Amino acid sequence: MFNLNLHKEKLSTDYIGQVIQYYPTLDSTNTKTWELIFEKVENGTVVITDNQISGRGRQANKWISAPGKSLTFSIVLYPKVMPNQINLYSLLAGLAITDCLNEHNIQAQLKWPNDILINNKKVGGILCESKISGGVIKSIVIGIGLNVNEEVTDLPLELHNKATSLMIECGKEYQLEILLANILNHLEHRIKNKETNTQLLDWEKHCAHLNQKLAFHSGNETVTGVFKGLTKIGQAIISKDGEELIFDSGESV
Ligand code: BTN
Repeated sequence: MFNLNLHKEKLSTDYIGQVIQYYPTLDSTNTKTWELIFEKVENGTVVITDNQISGRGRQANKWISAPGKSLTFSIVLYPKVMPNQINLYSLLAGLAITDCLNEHNIQAQLKWPNDILINNKKVGGILCESKISGGVIKSIVIGIGLNVNEEVTDLPLELHNKATSLMIECGKEYQLEILLANILNHLEHRIKNKETNTQLLDWEKHCAHLNQKLAFHSGNETVTGVFKGLTKIGQAIISKDGEELIFDSGESV
């Protein structure tokens, strides 16, 4: 069971994670978070479960996680920024995870829009959803799934070549509560400094495919092209058939 006291001990944020809603089991922390937003919850609230049974991924994919062995949580933000800023929030969440992993001497990379990779295998994913009204983003839910203490046998067979966990890569167990606090500390710091140019450069430094061929899903299509970097607001610049195309990452609800 998630130890809220241990997590709070390590948390040094002003607002992100100061309110935590813990559930032993949930269908999806993102879905639950949208329900809570409807009932009104504070900016920075984190919703976490030990056992997510219908986790949602991007493009209506499923996110499968082993009960008690991984981090599955969502963060509420009410940023009141322009809708195109959603890209940035999603990228900052990825960076907060690589910051946290670096702190634990784990080198991770980022795949656009928001996969976390170790040794080219996916260890985590981010589902960043937003609600826009009156021309501004009213609410953002950043849902994060990070495989932590899973053994190979905990992962679905069909994902053995594509997915991994911190345990598989580093051969040791990690305390979920401490990782969560570290990620939230870094995320708040990254968001506070979101206007600085170094954020996008940092993302490109961690990028697994800069100037390389990349395939990703956008709407109903799979896009393949060379990833040239990020625009000033965090969209992907893709070179395809001699043209430069721009892609957004976030999903609206
Ligand atoms: C992806 O890689 O497609 C994104 C996966 C996001 C999974 C997380 S787990 C916590 C949160 N709740 C969900 O239902 N999904 C996100």
